[in-house]
Amino acid sequence: MEKAEFEARWNRFEDNCRQCHACGLRDGATNVVIYRGSKNAPLMIIGEAPGGDEDVKGLPFVGKSGMLLQNLLDLYDIDESLYHICNIVKCRPPENRRPEREEIAACKRHLAEQFRLVRPQVILLCGSTAYEAFYGQKPTMRDVRGRWDSRNGYQIMTSYHPAYALRNEEMKIPFYEDIGKVRNKLEELGLAAPLAPLSN
Ligand code: URA
Repeated sequence: MEKAEFEARWNRFEDNCRQCHACGLRDGATNVVIYRGSKNAPLMIIGEAPGGDEDVKGLPFVGKSGMLLQNLLDLYDIDESLYHICNIVKCRPPENRRPEREEIAACKRHLAEQFRLVRPQVILLCGSTAYEAFYGQKPTMRDVRGRWDSRNGYQIMTSYHPAYALRNEEMKIPFYEDIGKVRNKLEELGLAAPLAPLSN
């Protein structure tokens, strides 16, 4: 797709997201939270829904759990050009409750267009809501996390949601390891340069 055509389609996509009232969430949201990172990143990271900080700033994962995620991305030198961070739904659910099935379904067409435009090769699903929305079934997280699933040309990994890892200290290491596996996959696919060796 030509750059100008891409930008026009991207702008249309963002307008459609902002004007959407397909479910009730928009009425209670300050901002429609679309993405942060790069518009054509090889890695798409998908969370559940914007929380309070995200709703105010209009950006995903900028609160406490976002800080954990960002720290790990920084640690593994996964910079902004490599990732596109978004959520299953783009408007904050009241009281930060889980988005409901109908809300996820209503937002799906926006996520589908986001996929078509960003065209990631590697996908990281953060948490059970993202998994369920993607695969259509509830996961047993300890069984599915940290494994690669290759389908329709995508390399997909599920990990814990960073908020869950923050609340459960013992989940931090597995989450940390999973981001490391994402780093390795980006390198293996030639999408990121190998990490420079540590110097002392
Ligand atoms: N939790 C999410 O799932 N997404 C965000 O953007 C912030 C917190």
